[in-house]
This record gives sequence, structure tokens and C-alpha cells, in this order.
Amino acid sequence: MAILQKSATKNFGILTAGGDCPGLNAAIRGVCRAAYDRYGMTIVGVANGYRGLIEENVRSLRPVDFSGILTRGGTILGASREKPFKPSSGDGEDVIEKVEAIRENYRKLKLDCLVVLGGNGTNTTGYRLSQEGLNVVGLPKTIDNDIVGTDRTFGFFSALSIGTEAIDRLHSTAQSHSRVIVIELMGHKAGWLALYAGVAGGGDVILIPEIPYDIKAIGKHLLERSRSGKTFSIVVAAEGALSLEETKMDKKDRKKCRAGFPSIAYRLAGEITAETGMETRATVLGYMQRGGVPSAADRVLATSLGTAAADLLARGEYGRMVALTGNDISSVDLSVPAGKVKTVPPDHQMIDTAISVGTCMGV
Ligand code: F6P
Repeated sequence: MAILQKSATKNFGILTAGGDCPGLNAAIRGVCRAAYDRYGMTIVGVANGYRGLIEENVRSLRPVDFSGILTRGGTILGASREKPFKPSSGDGEDVIEKVEAIRENYRKLKLDCLVVLGGNGTNTTGYRLSQEGLNVVGLPKTIDNDIVGTDRTFGFFSALSIGTEAIDRLHSTAQSHSRVIVIELMGHKAGWLALYAGVAGGGDVILIPEIPYDIKAIGKHLLERSRSGKTFSIVVAAEGALSLEETKMDKKDRKKCRAGFPSIAYRLAGEITAETGMETRATVLGYMQRGGVPSAADRVLATSLGTAAADLLARGEYGRMVALTGNDISSVDLSVPAGKVKTVPPDHQMIDTAISVGTCMGV
């Protein structure tokens, strides 16, 4: 048994919130194994994100709980999108009650710190709880890769592999039927997943929210491909992609313009057929991108971030989010990701890379 190292943290809570992703259990394992084996900390597992802390839905985590979960998809703790600071009724009374319940249970459970694994919303809530006096350490998790303060989030590379494999599969069926196939990827308000999977899968058109598309430019590109003898095309669209026309609309009109289409891919397929006369189909990859075994890269990142979080706990460095900076694991103040979304900068080199290999970015 290794000699335990000193730790400012004796007992902490851990929760996973927001959309799940491959790598969450690897990160839980990283935090807990380092905290328990190296520092002798005790661990309280909080169920279903912040909702579990409000309801005191918790259990003690022992080595048997966080061993053997490295390759398991999802989260052994469960997740929710509970947002304690978001009023569900007009007077915000519920916010006061929820935050009070969290503060009370944090005290009752004798937590020295709360470790939160999540996306923008989760880390923003973590930051606001730290402003309320709780000790919080955040880990950046999401397939969207849209968290400010870290160069990458675990979940992203796993979803990228899933999206790329799907695009590969669509090539053969599009070619067999001389069709245009639109595949829609997740990413919420950012285009990272569609951009990277589009480059990895050789998408002919890549549409991301950051570059509103012109259907005429897309049509011209597809017709030129057809005239050059390419009998099929693959259009990779981020779920948040929007047209130039939509950028000029208010929220109500934008909603109207999307009504009747379950997803952007179906509307786009119709617009492409109308514009080019080409036979077009749509596929929405959806929650496949959130499931299954984490990629090797995500396992390494999740484990590294997890053990780094345990070290922050041991040093009593609270109010921070562990992060990847270049190839190094670091940490940033929780205020850095709070309330922000990291979108693809228009001059990002991956956009130029896509264009360099003949990809149409919708303009
Ligand atoms: O944030 C991850 C994500 O998968 C987004 O890409 C997507 O828009 C959203 O979650 C879906 O949310 P839910 O799981 O609540 O349907």
C-alpha cells in the first residue's frame, strides 16, 4: 500500500451533468482513483447532476465503484440538465430554494469540495456555486468541444470517430445511387464536430453555425462536381447551421422557417433538391455520437484531467477547471469558461484546410 500524501481535501462530492459522452467514466475513475489511492480522500457520488445534490441523492463511492469503468460509455453517476440558477417560475423563488438545498446538503455531507464534470452550463453553475462560497473544481466534458479555457474536451474525439465512420458509410450508398446525402452532426451552437468530421470523412460541403450558408453557393458547387463526373456528394451539416436568410430574421421568424422540419438536415435536403434538381437524402446521426466506448485519445485526456483534478483537491486549489493547453494539462479559473461558448473562429486553420482540399463551406 503506497504511503498516502498530504491533502487539504478529506472528503469531496463528484457529479456529472449535461449531455453525457464517452470518457465520462474514465474521468470519474481518474479523479477517484488518484484521490483515494494517493491522498486517502473519501468520495460522495452525487446522482444525476446537480439534481442529486438538491435532493441529497448520493452514495459513498468505494474502489469497487470506480474500478473497471475506464472503457464504459455513459456515466455511472447518471446526469441531468438541472440548472439550479435558472428560474423555472417568474419570481425566482425556486432558485433560492435550490441553491439553499445545495448549500445545506454540501454542509450536511461534510464536503470539502464539489467536483463537477460537465459542459458550459455545468461549469458555469460550478462557478456560481463557488461565488456562493462552495469549493468547486470543474472538468471540461462535451462532444461539442465548445468550452472556453481548454484546447479540447473529452468526448469530442470519440464523437469525431463516430461521425467520421458514418460519413465513410454514407459515401458508398450515395455513390451507388448517385445521390447527395446530407448528414447532420451534433455540436449545439458550435461547428467543431461537423468541421473536423467533415475533413476526416472527406465531406464535399461542410456547414457550420459560424459560417451562415448560401444555398446558391452550395448548389453551384454540387452541380460543378456533377459536371466534372462526380455522381454523388456528401454534405456535412452541424445541427446549428443556418442560412444567410436566417441570420436576418428574428427568433420568431427563424422558428417559423424551421417549422415542419424535425432537423436542419431535412430542410437542407429539400433546399438542395429545389436548387439543383439532384436526388437528395438526409441522415441525422443524433445520439449515436454520445454513446459507446471512449476513443483512446479521450481515455488519455479524461484520465489525465481526472488525476489533475485530484491534485488540485489535494493542494486545496479550488475555484478552478482543469484544462488541456497544447499538450499540457493545466487549470484555469472557473470564471474563464463561465457563461461562454467556444465557437469556431472564422479564420481557424481547419477551415482553410477544408477549403484547400476543395470543400465548399457554404459560401
Ligand atoms: O451538449 C451535447 C449535446 O449532445 C449537443 O451536441 C446537443 O445539441 C445536446 O447535447 C442535446 O441535448 P439533450 O441530450 O438534452 O437532448
